[in-house]
Amino acid sequence: MLDTASFVDVKSVEKTYFTPSGVVHALGPISFSFDRGQTVGIVGPSGCGKSTMLKVLAGLEDRTRGEITVQSRNVNGPLDDVGVVFQKDLLLDWRTVLENVLLPAELRGRVDEKIRTRARNLLEELGVSGFENNQPWELSGGMRQRVSIARALLLKPSMLFLDEPFSALDALTRDKMNVIVQRLQMHEEVTTFFITHSIAEAVFLSDRVIVMSDRPGRIIDDIEVGIPKPRTLSVREEPEFIDITRRIRIHFEKAGVL
Ligand SMILES: Nc1ncnc2c1ncn2[C@@H]1O[C@H](COP(=O)(O)OP(=O)(O)O)[C@@H](O)[C@H]1O
Ligand SMILES: [Mg+2]
Repeated sequence: MLDTASFVDVKSVEKTYFTPSGVVHALGPISFSFDRGQTVGIVGPSGCGKSTMLKVLAGLEDRTRGEITVQSRNVNGPLDDVGVVFQKDLLLDWRTVLENVLLPAELRGRVDEKIRTRARNLLEELGVSGFENNQPWELSGGMRQRVSIARALLLKPSMLFLDEPFSALDALTRDKMNVIVQRLQMHEEVTTFFITHSIAEAVFLSDRVIVMSDRPGRIIDDIEVGIPKPRTLSVREEPEFIDITRRIRIHFEKAGVL
């Protein structure tokens, strides 16, 4: 039988945090699905529940209501087939760059020559070769994030979750990272879920951009980005690109965010 189910299916998902200082309805209800190989960009006001959505989707936080299936399997607990990168990189300063990238394999007792080669190749593809034996504190912010991405991809996860990974970087470094990530992503064919507060970054990297409302975050727009890949940075001057960024900006203006 032909499997027509989506790769990820989110149905009426909500998340409420119950804390000693009160109840926060952070997310939803939210429903959407996406296919294998897609890059889905998420934009929305600060505090609207984007990170919550990523954590719930990755099974790192329990949802309060709703259903999530990944490859037709119900998500109940952390998925082990995903790589995650957060805004603040979580590199261990006492380990070298290569040792940091190898960490996921080490935790599973899977370090061998093949995985070392994979780690080195990823670092090379991300433009960090030659720094394998350096300590993370010797690297710039942009390079540290590249090491984090290499680590997230080491075990060939079927999904990559990025939560504002470039927010702390300057504009030029960020542009460069966007080009590198696009190339890597096409090469690795990893399904990507990408949160950013930059509208241009979301449109540049994504096949589809989901726009979220204020908290509790719901989907207020879902835009197909049909611009062929690979895209160069100059695509940002093309009418199609400008039309999409304008459409997103209008949502933010209406919500009083911009
Ligand atoms: N662990 C938590 N406990 C209680 N409230 C939380 C927790 N994590 C996030 N929140 C609250 O949920 C809302 C959404 O947060 P978050 O998902 O981090 O938003 P975003 O990533 O869009 O900025 C915010 O009001 C935030 O304070
Ligand atoms: Mg966040």
